[in-house]
Amino acid sequence: MKDKIIDILRDSQDNFVSGQRISEMFNVSRAAIWKNINSLKEKGYVIESVSRKGYRLTSTPDLLTHQEIKRYLKTKKIEFKIIYYTSIESTNIKAKELASDGLEEGAVIIAEEQTSGKGRLGRSWTSPKSKGIWMSLILRPNISPLEASKITQIAAAAVCKSISELGIKAYIKWPNDIILNNKKVCGILTEISAELNKVNYIVIGIGVNANIDEKEFPQEIKDKATSLKSACNKEVSRKDLTARIINNFEELYLELIDDNTIKKSIEICKESSILLGKKIRIIDKDREKLATAIDLTDEGELLVKNENGKIEKIISGEISVRGLNGYV
Ligand code: BTN
Repeated sequence: MKDKIIDILRDSQDNFVSGQRISEMFNVSRAAIWKNINSLKEKGYVIESVSRKGYRLTSTPDLLTHQEIKRYLKTKKIEFKIIYYTSIESTNIKAKELASDGLEEGAVIIAEEQTSGKGRLGRSWTSPKSKGIWMSLILRPNISPLEASKITQIAAAAVCKSISELGIKAYIKWPNDIILNNKKVCGILTEISAELNKVNYIVIGIGVNANIDEKEFPQEIKDKATSLKSACNKEVSRKDLTARIINNFEELYLELIDDNTIKKSIEICKESSILLGKKIRIIDKDREKLATAIDLTDEGELLVKNENGKIEKIISGEISVRGLNGYV
């Protein structure tokens, strides 16, 4: 009922809607409406109530609920349905549970806070309450498991494009980090359940440090992590950015599903690459080697030139790539 009350107030824009009218719509008492209005106010909705006029919505909170995000969504084919938690262990863990139970493609698990956010290679991911975008998409593409890394490229391109739409130039550190001012602003964790030739589901976890203050990052990542807020000195609208990421993701993902190519994503990944043309250090388990990043293939693999001049293809997810200086 609360969601519907918000819809009604939103639809009436600047006009008041009387408690009587709303109570008739739901066939409940005016006191019941008043109770719901109060609980909406507690969630951060600013609702004016004037006697004999009724209620008027004056502002909405930056919550990542389906109610708040849905009006920014422009998706065409896939129904992206947001499943919202205020606090959860990890959206990736929850998404995998729900996907194993059969939840369909397009479900997006979002939490205001993760108490045990997961990073790549067993690391943890700092996910403070209402400061970032912590979300996981469930996908069921009809592709070979060997192609799963393409989804990471699509997600990286979608996030980078969405951030650039806010007027902030971010870069992609292949295969799955988004970089701002030489620090990490977003990480992507792709997890897959598959048989030999068939993907059961893919969970693509995206963590964007949106409005975290620099001082809030734990000591050990302070010099490696940043947020959009630090870059532009003001808070960004998380709900707007979340919807942009989903909108851009759908467009790029459908290119793979419908046309069996990720050309548009690769174009974005190349144009925003922080590695191409640079000397890099490739760390594969305990071994390290130096190379020059020269290109991305149409499939999203990194092409490097080894010190002995040999060209090598690096496949997403197998190794991590670090620049020679500092984090990037
Ligand atoms: C990395 O760069 O190490 C990947 C970080 C991925 C973090 C996101 S936040 C939402 C989703 N849920 C998780 O537990 N992890 C991913």
